[in-house]
Amino acid sequence: MGTALGQSISRTLRYDGVNVFLNVDIDYYSNNKIGDIMNKINAEMARTSGAIRSFSQLVVAGITILFFIAILTSISWQLTLTSTVVLGLVVSVNQVFIKRAKMFGQQLTSDSRALTNKLIETLSGINLIKTVATEDLEFKRLKDLIYARERSEFKSQANSAIIAPINETAGIMALLLIVLAARYLFVEQIEALSAVILTYLLLLFRLLPVVGTVNNIRSGLSNKSASILVVSDYLDRSNKPFMKNGSIPFEKLKNGIKFEAVDFRYGSGNQDLALENIDLWIPRGKTVALVGTSGAGKSTLADLIPRFYDPCNGRIKFDDEDLRNYDLKTVRRRMGIVSQDTFLFNNSVLYNLTYGCEWA
Ligand SMILES: Nc1ncnc2c1ncn2[C@@H]1O[C@H](COP(=O)(O)OP(=O)(O)OP(=O)(O)O)[C@@H](O)[C@H]1O
Ligand SMILES: [Mg+2]
Repeated sequence: MGTALGQSISRTLRYDGVNVFLNVDIDYYSNNKIGDIMNKINAEMARTSGAIRSFSQLVVAGITILFFIAILTSISWQLTLTSTVVLGLVVSVNQVFIKRAKMFGQQLTSDSRALTNKLIETLSGINLIKTVATEDLEFKRLKDLIYARERSEFKSQANSAIIAPINETAGIMALLLIVLAARYLFVEQIEALSAVILTYLLLLFRLLPVVGTVNNIRSGLSNKSASILVVSDYLDRSNKPFMKNGSIPFEKLKNGIKFEAVDFRYGSGNQDLALENIDLWIPRGKTVALVGTSGAGKSTLADLIPRFYDPCNGRIKFDDEDLRNYDLKTVRRRMGIVSQDTFLFNNSVLYNLTYGCEWA
């Protein structure tokens, strides 16, 4: 059941994650790296769904422990009090390792993020790397990142591997202490009660592995807590730009496109205006060329027409209707854009030519 649950959780997380990056505004990509997003969808989501699965195991183990404690208390409450205190001590010994697990988990998260980013950067720049023959340099950089990630993974695993033997030893010592306590508590009736005490110890012995499991799970959860935070922050839509969509379906342009006192700046507010107070009328059927120095804002102005960004002041109108009132998809479907940089899908020529208009 745990496996099925874990799989369905990681599937759902990834569906949501893909939807976030498909629907978020283009602006989001100017301060978020592709590698970060990929890493979140692959590694971090895998670790998060692992954590959720562990959490469900923790609940099961908790119920088992309560059940055991109820039976043990009905046999002898004095002994149960003693064993609760002793086992509580065993649990608190684990606190040290749980803290370390958390630290190593954070390290692993940041190292794997750095590696994914560098891998993507290297692959995207492979032509340049080959042109200037810096393969050796890039190999060294990647090697260091791979090594660092491996080290964090190793530390995480070594830390969790220590927990089991320590729990085992602590558990046996706890059992011994409880036997001594039983001898002391029932010193007069030890003969008569030996069967009861034996049953008690047998039950307690069965309980120890469950306590061990709880400790393992706790360390695993705290190891993965950094990933949980990363994933929930990524899936949270309230901290990302999402455009409000209009409702009017756009059919075709009748008169023309009009810019009215348009101001625009990139980012959230402290950058300079890229466009300031632009008024422009482009009648239908007319060819318009924008000419200007590099950085003047030509591409920015063009990007406002398919609503890649919204103006921060003023408005853009298609036939006297504010662009923001149209259903965005119907607007973009009516547009053809030839970009400065070409992008081809890894597919046939036919597929690339007809992408977005499969009816052609
Ligand atoms: N994604 C972005 N984030 C932040 N600032 C940007 C972004 N794109 C462009 N800018 C800035 O906005 C201004 C206008 O840039 P834009 O790309 O529109 O100029 P351009 O006229 O198209 O230049 P070029 O002729 O080089 O293509 C520049 O100062 C540029 O640095
Ligand atoms: Mg440009």
